[in-house]
Amino acid sequence: MAKKLQYGMVGGGAGSFIGDVHRRAIDLDGKAELAAGCFSSDFSKTLQTGEQLNIDKDRLYKTFTEMAEKEAARSDGIKFVVIVTPNNLHYPVAKEFLKRGISVACDKPLTVEVEQAIELKDLAEKNNCLFAVTYTYTGHVMAKEARAIVKRGDIGDILVVVAEYPQSWLADTIEKEGQKQAAWRTDPAQSGKSNCVGDIGSHIENLVSYITGLKIKKLIANLDVIGEGRSLDNNAEIIVRYDNGASGTYWCSQVAIGFENALKVRIFGTLGSVEFEQENCNYLKVTKKGQPTQIYSRGNGYISEDAASFSRIPTGHPEGFFEAFANIYSAFVNALIKKLAGEKIDEKNFDYPNIDMGIEGVRFIAKSVESMQKGSVWVDMD
Ligand SMILES: NC(=O)c1ccc[n+]([C@@H]2O[C@H](COP(=O)([O-])OP(=O)(O)OC[C@H]3O[C@@H](n4cnc5c(N)ncnc54)[C@H](O)[C@@H]3O)[C@@H](O)[C@H]2O)c1
Repeated sequence: MAKKLQYGMVGGGAGSFIGDVHRRAIDLDGKAELAAGCFSSDFSKTLQTGEQLNIDKDRLYKTFTEMAEKEAARSDGIKFVVIVTPNNLHYPVAKEFLKRGISVACDKPLTVEVEQAIELKDLAEKNNCLFAVTYTYTGHVMAKEARAIVKRGDIGDILVVVAEYPQSWLADTIEKEGQKQAAWRTDPAQSGKSNCVGDIGSHIENLVSYITGLKIKKLIANLDVIGEGRSLDNNAEIIVRYDNGASGTYWCSQVAIGFENALKVRIFGTLGSVEFEQENCNYLKVTKKGQPTQIYSRGNGYISEDAASFSRIPTGHPEGFFEAFANIYSAFVNALIKKLAGEKIDEKNFDYPNIDMGIEGVRFIAKSVESMQKGSVWVDMD
């Protein structure tokens, strides 16, 4: 049996959210194993997490720089690093590993500045590294099916997109009570220029772009800052104009009482429409003009080959968040295995969100903030 690829993780210490999801998702396919970590800026927490995860003590590091240096110097060093820290650290951490030839899987948003994102792409290319940006929802089989439906022309030319991502977890100022995830997201020094658009609006931008292939030419945004003592947005409405002339309306909110994690994308074309909801992610609503609405269900024979290749269990047995992450990692690790074996690969042939998508995401956030700062005016994406 082929040896597992060894990977390391920066972030994802005890009490954190997404690092553990990444670890479990990677474990689903058994092609890579965690071998090193700097799970926290507090070394005692890194040691605690490392012990729980059975990582050799000599591969637990005080800083991510030390980790990059020492892992790069080992003959059996990690082959990729997973970055699951607050946003402001994505850039410096990725840089340390890329410049030493270690590939990266980084959570979104890729960086807090567009220039940093572009610099990471250059660095990755120069050092022959792969780079995934873990936009979770592109990993769902039915998001992939929506993409196949649009690509096949089943709903014709796209005219209108309506997408929303409402949550309610920041309806109260829980950062004041020390809630960790809220504390850094509402802090510009750690979150970047935006909280809500950066945290969840960027998922809308990415998923719509993934499904439709459309590029945003310009946008106009309203960002609201709701809650005493806050300085970053937690509700936003953004209208976009795509390169084919179609328009889109995006709403993201962290103060929408009644909603949990309700990402929903609706695409309307000249011949029909398609609707994907992440909280009901095993199904897809498809309507062809003049016909009754159909509900496509994951795992059935009519699902297109590319999307179906990511399905893991039979229909009626729900897949979800972990599987979506695992699908991203499965494509990324497959690409990396080939690359490490000396094969020339084109990242575009592997269905994971790449660094170009990460750059577009950071640009979308920056332009949304710019539009708001100029008084909610249209701004070009270029
Ligand atoms: N793709 C998704 O669906 C998704 C979901 C949630 C979060 N995220 C992204 O993941 C990232 C982490 O979010 P979270 O909610 O897990 O945050 P979190 O606060 O729960 O975890 C952050 C972790 O980073 C660690 N950390 C901080 N500084 C560090 C340093 N200098 N060195 C090493 N570790 C350090 C913290 O100790 C903590 O363990 C963010 O960029 C966020 O936008 C993505």
